[in-house]
Amino acid sequence: MRFSIRLARHVVASRPASAHMSAAAAEAGASRVALVQGSSRGLGLEFVRQLLQRPDHSVVATCRSPSASQQLQDLQRQHGADRLLLVPLDPNDELSIERAAQQVATAHAHLNLLINASGILHDAGMTPETGLQKVTLASLTKCFQVNAAGHILVCKAFAPLLINAAKASCATEERPAVVANLSARVGSIGDNRLGGWYSYRASKAAVNQLTKCMALEFERRKQAVSCILLHPGTVDTDLSKPFQRNVPPEKLFTRERAVRQLLDITDRTSMQDTGRLYDWKGDVVEW
Ligand SMILES: NC(=O)c1ccc[n+]([C@@H]2O[C@H](COP(=O)([O-])OP(=O)(O)OC[C@H]3O[C@@H](n4cnc5c(N)ncnc54)[C@H](OP(=O)(O)O)[C@@H]3O)[C@@H](O)[C@H]2O)c1
Repeated sequence: MRFSIRLARHVVASRPASAHMSAAAAEAGASRVALVQGSSRGLGLEFVRQLLQRPDHSVVATCRSPSASQQLQDLQRQHGADRLLLVPLDPNDELSIERAAQQVATAHAHLNLLINASGILHDAGMTPETGLQKVTLASLTKCFQVNAAGHILVCKAFAPLLINAAKASCATEERPAVVANLSARVGSIGDNRLGGWYSYRASKAAVNQLTKCMALEFERRKQAVSCILLHPGTVDTDLSKPFQRNVPPEKLFTRERAVRQLLDITDRTSMQDTGRLYDWKGDVVEW
């Protein structure tokens, strides 16, 4: 099914008319705030770069160690600390996530867009499994922790700010707040024809399920927070580097192109899209 522009009018219609809008919600109408988790490099860093090109956006960039990312530091110098807030957040550590959420809440009353871009496929001593006998508890746990648990715990911590944006959006722009969790087509069970990559595939299936649960909960509560998953295609980053040999050049996207395509999707996301996995073309990927 092709992704199409559908504004969240049905959400506006289903919300009880509210005489009072909170101060946070009123402020939320003024400017848009986007947060990118996993922004130190790769797709996350490019999301930050492109979002900063939008004059009406403030950007929060989180990663494990912002002071270690020269590129994030350069972007902050270029755009100013009021446009780009750098916040340490380790998605493996609940306390770190909570602290980050508190820090962001002192700077911003709302969040219009939350992108979870962290992810792991290989690491020191860890390569994607080519067969059952290569599967270890260590790789299963690490992939699940970074690719699935980290994303949903970040969503949990930032949900109040997303809800604040949703309240204001319903009253003004009729646009939902958006959560976009970076997944991958290989997480689809129905589409799995090759096998292998046990830990990575399973962790992506897990983030799909966790995001679907969250999407249904926001919808049931009539909170205009649309939660989608994105498959970026194969993109030239550290994550794909060891596996690029057999990828035809036209199928290996630059980070610039991949993020442009993904932001085009998040810009058009309505509540009707919530709970689905979209590929870079905007087509729904079946589970
Ligand atoms: N590139 C592709 O072809 C492709 C295809 C399909 C899906 N994706 C998905 O897109 C997302 C972004 O991938 P990418 O290509 O941009 O990858 P990348 O360039 O390798 O960047 C990975 C990001 O995740 C963080 N990260 C890595 N290991 C971590 C750990 N153990 N704990 C916490 N954070 C960790 C990194 O932070 P540090 O700098 O602190 O390590 C970095 O910000 C991932 O979810 C990936 O699965 C990518």
